[in-house]
Amino acid sequence: MRKQAKKIGLAIVGAGRVGLIRGELAARHPAVEWIGIAEKNPERAKLVGDKIGAEFVTADYRELISRPEVNALIVSTDEHLHVDPILAACERGLPMLIEKPLATDLGESQMVMDALEHAGIDAVIGYTQRFRRRWLVAKEKVRNGSLGEVTMVTSRAFMNRLVAIDNYKRSDNPAEISPMVISGTHALDIVMWLMEAKKPVEVYARSVNKALGPTWQGIDGTAYTITFDDGAIYHGVISWALPEVWPGAVYSLEVGAVGTEGVLTIDDTHRDIVLATNLVQGEGYAPDKRRHVDFLTSYPVGDMALGELRGPMREETNSWLNRVALGSTTQHATAREGHNRLMLTKAIDLSARLKKPVSLPISPEDEKRGR
Ligand SMILES: NC(=O)c1ccc[n+]([C@@H]2O[C@H](COP(=O)([O-])OP(=O)(O)OC[C@H]3O[C@@H](n4cnc5c(N)ncnc54)[C@H](O)[C@@H]3O)[C@@H](O)[C@H]2O)c1
Repeated sequence: MRKQAKKIGLAIVGAGRVGLIRGELAARHPAVEWIGIAEKNPERAKLVGDKIGAEFVTADYRELISRPEVNALIVSTDEHLHVDPILAACERGLPMLIEKPLATDLGESQMVMDALEHAGIDAVIGYTQRFRRRWLVAKEKVRNGSLGEVTMVTSRAFMNRLVAIDNYKRSDNPAEISPMVISGTHALDIVMWLMEAKKPVEVYARSVNKALGPTWQGIDGTAYTITFDDGAIYHGVISWALPEVWPGAVYSLEVGAVGTEGVLTIDDTHRDIVLATNLVQGEGYAPDKRRHVDFLTSYPVGDMALGELRGPMREETNSWLNRVALGSTTQHATAREGHNRLMLTKAIDLSARLKKPVSLPISPEDEKRGR
């Protein structure tokens, strides 16, 4: 007997950029019968509600979560506002897709992970890049031993400062925002997913803040080394302070993994598709009239083509909806992995603040040191 798909009544809390994308995808999914959105900005709520043909629109996430039609939840609020809707939904035991990071405060992240696990909830975190073929192939090659024993990994993430500025503008607490916590977490997740058999034991990091520091009290970039218990090392660099005219609209990544028998290099810089135009570029994370050259496909969620989003967030959202409807297994990050990634990014920031190596894991109390 083939499995019958469960019908989904989907609640989306936070109808910003990502909430809209996921909502449009869900509206096309055959198992989704009902969509409700909670969005605190009334104009945005109306726009998104109309665009996806939502059955229910409110400003109050509690009202949405308590609706009888709802049996699954997407939490796509701003990074520091995931916690309250998650906790409210724990009471109803809803399966959830939560955007990264799980939280921006380590104590809250721990509390949320405990609440999700205690309630036995199937919660996954939106580490969207895991749904791309290139990272899946890399994962498979490391898993099946093609590199022998992996001893050394590097990652270099370069980002347009438009993303950083947008994040600093949206927060009234710049100390909560860092390139590692908000964006470096994607590169870190990919590498830690490749290295998942190994246990990280120490991190050493340094940051710089000359470009974003003066105006935004922000961090430009961070370089870090994570050591594993078997002696393997992972060295990563992220800068989200590249000038607005840098052709990458959002994220360029290079990863190299070296093992005792092999090496794997992945060029995800997007230099292979270049658009140059005299006209103003209308697309990307935050369109800017100074940008006339674009490395296309650098926006990690995907790109609009023929009226629909094409790319990783489509794969990821559809996989999650299939998981809810059919119980299929997926490669999504769990809440425990989401918490681990936040802990690691906070430990990297802590080491950079203290200018000293930090032993892993760190606790919420450790994290407050050096502030
Ligand atoms: N996986 C990816 O590749 C990827 C890409 C971009 C963003 N993200 C993540 O997605 C999340 C959302 O990012 P975004 O770019 O869509 O942000 P956004 O600012 O465009 O949208 C957030 C929306 O949530 C609403 N909101 C906040 N708190 C609310 C509440 N309590 N109730 C109702 N509405 C509320 C805001 O009004 C806003 O409209 C973030 O966690 C971000 O890190 C993931």
